[in-house]
Amino acid sequence: MELLGTTTVFLLVCISCMLLFATWRSMSQNQKLPPGPTAIPIVGNILQLNPWNLPQSLKKLSEKYGPVFTVHLGPQKVVVLYGYDVVKEALIDQADDFSGRGVLPLLKRFFRGTGIVTSNGETWRQLRRFTLTTLRDFGMGKKGIEERIQEEAQFLVERIRNTQEQPFNPSNFLIHAVSNIICSIVFGDRFDYEDKKFLTLIELLEENNKYQNSLQIQVCMYNFLPTIMDFLPGPHQKMIQNIGKVDEFISEIIKEHQKTLDPTYPRDFIDAFLNKMEQEKRNAHSHFTIEALSRSTIDLFLAGTGTTSNTLIYGLLILQKYPEIAEKVQKEIDSVIGRDRSPCMADRSQMPYTDAVIHEIQRFIDFLPFNVPHAVIRDTKFRDYFIPKDTMIFPMLTSVLHDSKEFPNPEKFDPGHFLNANGTFKKSDYFMPFSAGKRVCAGEGLARMEIFLFLTAILQNFTLKPVLDCKDIDIFPVATTLANIPQPYKVSFLPR
Ligand code: HEM
Ligand SMILES: *[C@@H]1O[C@H](CO)[C@@H](O)[C@H](O)[C@H]1NC(C)=O
Ligand SMILES: *[C@@H]1O[C@H](CO)[C@@H](O)[C@H](O)[C@H]1NC(C)=O
Repeated sequence: MELLGTTTVFLLVCISCMLLFATWRSMSQNQKLPPGPTAIPIVGNILQLNPWNLPQSLKKLSEKYGPVFTVHLGPQKVVVLYGYDVVKEALIDQADDFSGRGVLPLLKRFFRGTGIVTSNGETWRQLRRFTLTTLRDFGMGKKGIEERIQEEAQFLVERIRNTQEQPFNPSNFLIHAVSNIICSIVFGDRFDYEDKKFLTLIELLEENNKYQNSLQIQVCMYNFLPTIMDFLPGPHQKMIQNIGKVDEFISEIIKEHQKTLDPTYPRDFIDAFLNKMEQEKRNAHSHFTIEALSRSTIDLFLAGTGTTSNTLIYGLLILQKYPEIAEKVQKEIDSVIGRDRSPCMADRSQMPYTDAVIHEIQRFIDFLPFNVPHAVIRDTKFRDYFIPKDTMIFPMLTSVLHDSKEFPNPEKFDPGHFLNANGTFKKSDYFMPFSAGKRVCAGEGLARMEIFLFLTAILQNFTLKPVLDCKDIDIFPVATTLANIPQPYKVSFLPR
C-alpha cells in the first residue's frame, strides 16, 4: 500500500514536471514567435481566413498584428511577411536563412525532393546553379534564345492571322507559343502546333492548372488531413496521374537523347544534363541523376509555361479595357521598330512607354500573390522574433506590388506607376513579380524576353477588337487562389 502510494506520488510528480516543462517550452517559444490569432487544433485559423480570398484575409491580419505574423493553415504553421521592408529584409538581407522551399504536405507527393522548384539543400544548390548556367550559356540549341522567340512570335502571328478577324479565346495559341520556347530549350526543337504528342503534353499540364483552382485543391491548400486525401477520389488523384503521364513522356524523350547524344555537341538542356551526369559518374553522391533530370525538366515546364502564358493572356485582356494605352504602345512600336522587321530586345531601351505598360501588367495582375512558399533552413532570429528551423514562410509579393506609397492608387491599372514625369522609364525596387534573393525566379530573363517579344509582335501586326464594350470588361481575377487567373474572354485581331 505504502509502496504503491510512493510510486503513484513519484509518477504524478514526474508527469507534472513533464507537463510543466512542455508548457514552459511552448510558452517560451511562443513568446518569441511572431504574434497571430489563436489557432484551433487541426483546423488552425480557419475562422480568420476566407479560402476564396486568402490574400485579403492576410492583409487584414497584417493590419492587426503588424508586418510579421503567424497563422495556422490547418495544422501547418506559417509565418507571413507582409510589406516591402520585411520581404526585403528576409529575402535579401537574410537571404540564406530564408532560402528554403516550403512544400504543402499534399503537394509533397509530386515532388520527391529533387528538381529545382521544390528541392532544398545541396540538391537544390547544384541543380539551380546548373540550370542557370545552362539557360545562360546555351542561348539554347542551334539558335540563340532571342532569335528562337522571334521565330515563334512569327508562327503565332501567322496563326492569329488565319482566324480572319473572328472573335476567339486566344489562350491556347499563347500557351502553345510559350510552351514551345521551353520545348526548344529542353528538347532542342519546337513542335508543330498540330503535333499530337505536343498537344497531349500541353493538355496534361493545362488540366493540372485548372485543378489547382478547384475546391479540393483549396482544401489541400489548407492542408486538412493530407493522409486521408490520399485515399479520397477527386481532381488531386487526376493531377497525380497526369504528372505520371508527363513523366513517361519525358522519360521517352530522355531515352532518345541518350541514344543520339554527341558529348561534344550538346543540343539542349537534356544533353547538357546527360554530359554532367557522365562527368560525375564516379561520385556516388552526385545530385545529377536521371530522376533529377526528369524532375528538373518537368519543373521548367510547370514553372515556365503557365506563368508566362497567363501574363500574356491577362495582358491582352487589360489592353482591350484600355484601347488608348494599346494605341500608345502601337505608336511607339511604329516609331522605334517600324513595320519592316521583327521586334528585338535592343528595342526595349528605346521604348519606355511599352516597358512601363509591361511592368504595370505584371504588377497589376500580381500573378503569385503569396510568392511560392519558402522555409527557414535553420533556427532564425528575425527582427525580435524567433522562427524555428523548417517553418513555412509566405513572403507576400502582393504586399510589395500593391504598396500604396510606391504605387499610388495600387488597385488601378496605370502605366504611370513606371514612368517619370518626362516620359522616361521609372525603375522600382518594389517591382517583384519574380520574387527576390536566392530563390528568385530562375527564368526571369527568359520570361521578360518572351513577354516583350510576343506582345510587341502581336501589337505590331494587329489591333485588338473586344467583343464587349470596354467599360464592361472585367479585369479582376476569376478567384484569387495560389495564382491570379484572368476571366476567360474572346477577342478579334484586326490586321493593321
Ligand atoms: C511571368 C512569368 C513568370 C513569373 C511571374 C515567375 C515567378 C516566379 C516566382 C515568384 C518564383 C518563386 C521565387 C521564390 O521562391 O522566391 C519562381 C520560381 C521559379 N521560376 Fe519563375 N516565373 C515566371 C517565368 C518562369 C520561366 C519562363 C521559367 C523557365 C525557365 C521559370 C522558372 C522558375 C524556376 C525554375 C523557379 C524555382 C527557383 C528556385 O526554387 O530556386 N519561371 N518564378
Ligand atoms: C508582322 O508584321 C511585321 C511588320 O509589319 C512583318 O514584317 C511580319 O511579316 C508580320 N508577321 C506575319 C506573320 O505576318
Ligand atoms: C527624367 O526624369 C528623371 C527623374 O525625374 C531623371 O532622372 C532623368 O534624368 C530625366 N531624363 C531626361 C532625359 O530629362
